[in-house]
Amino acid sequence: MSRQLFRNARIYTPVDEGRPRAGKAQGALANFPRGAMLIEDDLIVAIGNEPEVLASIRKTRKIQEVDCAGRCLIPGFVDPHTHMCFTNLREAEFAMRLDGTPYLEILRQGGGILSSVQAIVTASDDELYHKTLERVTKAMQFGTTTLEIKSGYGLDTENELKMLRIIDRVANNSPADVVPTFLGAHAVPVTYRSDPDRFIDMVIKEMLPAVCLQGVARFCDVFCEQGVFSLAESRRLLEAAKAMGLGLKIHADEVNDLGGAGLAAELGACSADHLLAASDHNIMAMAAAGVIAVLLPATAYSLRKPYARARFMIEQGLPVALATDCNPGSSFTESMQFVFGLAVLNMQMSPAEALTGTTLNAAYSIGMAGRTGSLDKGKQADFLLLDGETPAILAYHAGVSSVASVYKKGMKI
Ligand code: NIG
Ligand code: FE
Repeated sequence: MSRQLFRNARIYTPVDEGRPRAGKAQGALANFPRGAMLIEDDLIVAIGNEPEVLASIRKTRKIQEVDCAGRCLIPGFVDPHTHMCFTNLREAEFAMRLDGTPYLEILRQGGGILSSVQAIVTASDDELYHKTLERVTKAMQFGTTTLEIKSGYGLDTENELKMLRIIDRVANNSPADVVPTFLGAHAVPVTYRSDPDRFIDMVIKEMLPAVCLQGVARFCDVFCEQGVFSLAESRRLLEAAKAMGLGLKIHADEVNDLGGAGLAAELGACSADHLLAASDHNIMAMAAAGVIAVLLPATAYSLRKPYARARFMIEQGLPVALATDCNPGSSFTESMQFVFGLAVLNMQMSPAEALTGTTLNAAYSIGMAGRTGSLDKGKQADFLLLDGETPAILAYHAGVSSVASVYKKGMKI
């Protein structure tokens, strides 16, 4: 058994009390100004003020000591919403958006998500695997130790399964924990344009059973948006997915308020994501139903839209998680540090709230809080050392990485 003692660290972590942290609790952290953490193999066995941790250690077995030199030590980031499995970049579309073409208009013209679909269909498994793994590796360098990856650039059974197979291969070959989500209803394929309902029929009758049979997804997601899938179509799909045992997620009210947040509440979804245009009423319904809000400030930034109303949500008692949304269209970043900075500076979240949002609440939103998301005894030793004294360094020192080292399951990456 390997034992490592990290001492002389400024430790900041949310504490896991068995549910996502909401309201005032979102911004309440445990803090050990001169802290220590003891790890055995991949797990945290003691954490707290240094003298107390030292006193609790039985010195009978060999122990490797790491002097953190006063660095800030926080949980590894959990990125609970990504579309990292893709091949082609879409720089020409970025230029179109800069010139004023709206994101949904590009999709309507057959670009956007649909152009990523064409690239997936023609890519070899190895190409897709290597590109996805590269992005996961980059995310890890920036401090992400657990992440979700969605399918959704296949849009037919064969190619959705291809994506999920590759996501699984990445999961098996990366130190990161990877949670797969099935997003077969990400856009209406050109051949179904006149009848999106028929596409949803196909997703329910053909794709979902195949995905469940192969056990390659934990969640089902849908893009509920004007010109994509209506509220009724989204409901039909999510109800079917729930009946087949998948957890539910929804791209809700990203551009227009279709009521996706309310649907998430009604169906008891694990999370509703985006929520830039979500109504007060539906935000309150989410809070009452225990749905987690996954906010994606890098998407608002890239689409140049008003940010989701994080302050209002926190005041309503809605637990807020944060994610990159990493994708080649609306948010091309692997960096949770960037997301942290946007949350603090543009969504008025405190650094403590943003830390809970990028770690514990994010872990809850993908069903991973049992293992990670906080530095509680018994959880995996997934953590970061920062070049700074407090988590605020992540927002304060902008545009560069403040992550000095990344540890996943006790191993330095
Ligand atoms: O979350 N909104 C839908 N899906 C992604 C964008 C995917 C893409 O443009 O390729 C999002 O923003
Ligand atoms: Fe997304």
